[in-house]
Amino acid sequence: MNGSIGIFDSGLGGLTVLKVLAERFPQESFCYLGDIARLPYGNKSPETIRRYGLQILQFLKQQNVKAIIIACNSASTVFLGENDFEGIPLLNVIEPGAEAAINVSKDAKVAVLGTAATIRSHAYRDTLKKLNPSVEVIEQACPLFVPIVEEGMVNDPITELVAKKYLKEILVKDFKTIILGCTHYPVIKSDLKNVLGPTVSLVESGEVLAQKLQQLMSQNNITPSNTPRRIRVCITDLTDHFERLAHHLMSPIEIESLERVVL
Ligand code: DGL
Repeated sequence: MNGSIGIFDSGLGGLTVLKVLAERFPQESFCYLGDIARLPYGNKSPETIRRYGLQILQFLKQQNVKAIIIACNSASTVFLGENDFEGIPLLNVIEPGAEAAINVSKDAKVAVLGTAATIRSHAYRDTLKKLNPSVEVIEQACPLFVPIVEEGMVNDPITELVAKKYLKEILVKDFKTIILGCTHYPVIKSDLKNVLGPTVSLVESGEVLAQKLQQLMSQNNITPSNTPRRIRVCITDLTDHFERLAHHLMSPIEIESLERVVL
């Protein structure tokens, strides 16, 4: 699969990012790696997340990818500021997400939702402050959201109950721009909107990430693919549940091959 774009996440949540990119780059092939066997990353130490991330980067390099996107926010925090891996251009989701939030926010008040690892790293806060030193930032870890999404609990009263607990400070302080700083959160957007109200902007990295990928391809003279597109999803554990979830998250885009790999 020469010349595809590599993308990785700790699990299947990163398919929300792959879907946006697959729509924006219809001519490109993608090779996705979801490290389901070791999910979640969000409650692990930076050292462990980095070790896992390096193994995945090595795997993707072996698949001859021409660029790599770290779709996992928790993993992005430990590779922040690194623009290439052994000669392969690298993009993370923190900088595009922060940039999108600054563009959207009218009052320079941005809340960040993420895993414990992402929030503890303050990667979003620091990146937001670099873009606009006077921005006010609230950071909130939401550890229960990942298992909720993995269980498919969308439009569920339990999800709203949990969201009410996590979003309390954001509601009290009236923050209107919220970064969904975790691959899984876009899936429960409607539950979050029900709690936060219609005037809130829920920011994802996808669109700005697609622009950055376009720039990166031009800067690095990466030519668009001229072979038929292929979407390959590799996961480190495969069950019927994951298979159904993968197809559901990518729908209507077709996954051409879903395979279990050992890193
Ligand atoms: N992919 C992770 C992230 O975006 C969420 C799931 C996990 O904790 O591994 O931070």
